[in-house]
Amino acid sequence: MIWETLPNYDALSQRAASILFDAIRNDPRAVLGLPTGRTPMGMYDRMIAECSRQYHCFREVTTFNLDEYVGIPREHPGSYCAFMKHHLFDHVDLDPARTHIPDGMAADPDAECARYERRIATAGGLDLTFLGLGSNGHIAFNEPGTPFDWHTRVVALTPSTRKANESLFAGGDIPTRAITMGIGTILESRRIVLLAGGKNKHDAIARLQSGEQSIEFPASALWSHEDVLVLVDRASV
Ligand code: GLP
Repeated sequence: MIWETLPNYDALSQRAASILFDAIRNDPRAVLGLPTGRTPMGMYDRMIAECSRQYHCFREVTTFNLDEYVGIPREHPGSYCAFMKHHLFDHVDLDPARTHIPDGMAADPDAECARYERRIATAGGLDLTFLGLGSNGHIAFNEPGTPFDWHTRVVALTPSTRKANESLFAGGDIPTRAITMGIGTILESRRIVLLAGGKNKHDAIARLQSGEQSIEFPASALWSHEDVLVLVDRASV
C-alpha cells in the first residue's frame, strides 16, 4: 500500500483526476470502478473541466459504480444514479451503454447482484477502482463485519451510514438497504485508489495506517492487495 499526503482537498482531487486521466490515456478501453460521496466530487469536477478541452476522453471507457440504494428510483435526486449523472455522466462523452450502476429497483435484487458480477466479468474485470472511505471504515457499502471475500449483494445500512447520507433524502425516508460490490469484488480490481480527506476521516485513516487487518474495519482488506494507492489530505492525518 502506497500513501500520499496532499496539502488539501483541491490537491487531492487534482492528483486523483490525473491518475484517472493517465489510466484512460494509456488504455482508452479501461474498465473503471467509481465511487459516490462527497470525496470524489472534486475529482469528477476536474474530469469534466479537462474533457471539455479534449475530444473523446471517455468514448470507449466502461464504468461500474460501487453501489446503489435499494427501493430508490433512478430519477430520485438521492439515488447514486442521479449523483453520477449530475457529477459526471451528463458532462463527458461516456457511452451510456458502457456505464453501469446496480439497479436498486430490480424486482429481484439478489438476481440483480449476480447479474452485476457477471457484467463486470464480461467487461474483463475492473482495471482501476476508486474508493471513498466511510468514517467507520466502510468501503462501498461494506460495513464492519463483512467478510473480505464476499461479492455484490444486498446489504442493510447501519444507522451511522444512514445518518451520514441523510442530507440527500431531506424530508423523505432514508433508504435502509443498498446493493453494493463486495470487498471480494473490489479486491479483484487490478488497481485501487482510495481517497479520504477532511478531519472527520482522521480516525479511520489512523486505523487504516496502523496496519491492523480485521473484518471489523473493512478498509483494512486493502492491505492484502498488491496495488493500492491511498490519497489523503493533511486535514485527515
Ligand atoms: C457512502 C458511499 C461510500 C462512500 C462513503 C463516504 O457510504 N456508499 O462509497 O465512500 O459514503 O462518503 P463521503 O465521501 O461523502 O465521505
